Amino acid sequence: MEAIVRNVTEQVIDIYEQFDASHDYDHILRVMKNAEEIALTFPEADLSVVRLAVLLHDIDDPKYRENGNVTPMELLRSARAADELTTKVLDTIRSVSFNGGNEEEIISIEGAIVRDADRLDAIGAIGIARTFAFGGARGRKLYDADEIARTEMSEDEYRSKDTASVTHFYEKLLLLKDLMVTAEGKRLAEERHEFMLDFLEQLKAETGFDGNGK
Ligand code: ADP
Ligand code: NI
Repeated sequence: MEAIVRNVTEQVIDIYEQFDASHDYDHILRVMKNAEEIALTFPEADLSVVRLAVLLHDIDDPKYRENGNVTPMELLRSARAADELTTKVLDTIRSVSFNGGNEEEIISIEGAIVRDADRLDAIGAIGIARTFAFGGARGRKLYDADEIARTEMSEDEYRSKDTASVTHFYEKLLLLKDLMVTAEGKRLAEERHEFMLDFLEQLKAETGFDGNGK
């Protein structure tokens, strides 16, 4: 099992280093730390499934996918993971994405752990940094007084609009605290959520920008 995790780790580093700083290998390392912390509260969780899902969860992200990209399934195959393990890891990865609020039902403890671990890295100081890194990499505005944050949207709508970075706080980041699945994830999200609210208040004090296009 250790050999599979090592093999997959070696293969994914090069892939994530091609993504911008919001989804680089450091993101994976932070999510791994969060996942291991949450997993301590679930002794029955399969840690190998958790680790492999963390390593592979953003490989196939539609925001970065290009033709010819290797898929998590191919990567697991080439690391000689057994079929049963491969299926479990792929199921876990599927439960991670927010998709504009159109998320999958959580199907396993491992899915809950990895989803919450990924979401913790989307909020707080690091979440703020990542959001501006993502917006910067795509040439987006910092904030936009004319833009109204969407509350209901399809996955396609969520992906297709080049929203300003602060709009993303209202469309996703501020919602995550209440979408955490595990008790430990909820606990860890509180302080990070408060920090984002403080940030938005300070942004308003400095710029007059009041958020949410209102
Ligand atoms: P999903 O794509 O399902 O929302 P991700 O975990 O890939 O979830 O998103 C990760 C992070 O990437 C977000 O928390 C945010 O920091 C950044 N990001 C994604 N979409 C946007 C966006 N439209 N504007 C600004 N940042 C974004
Ligand atoms: Ni992620």
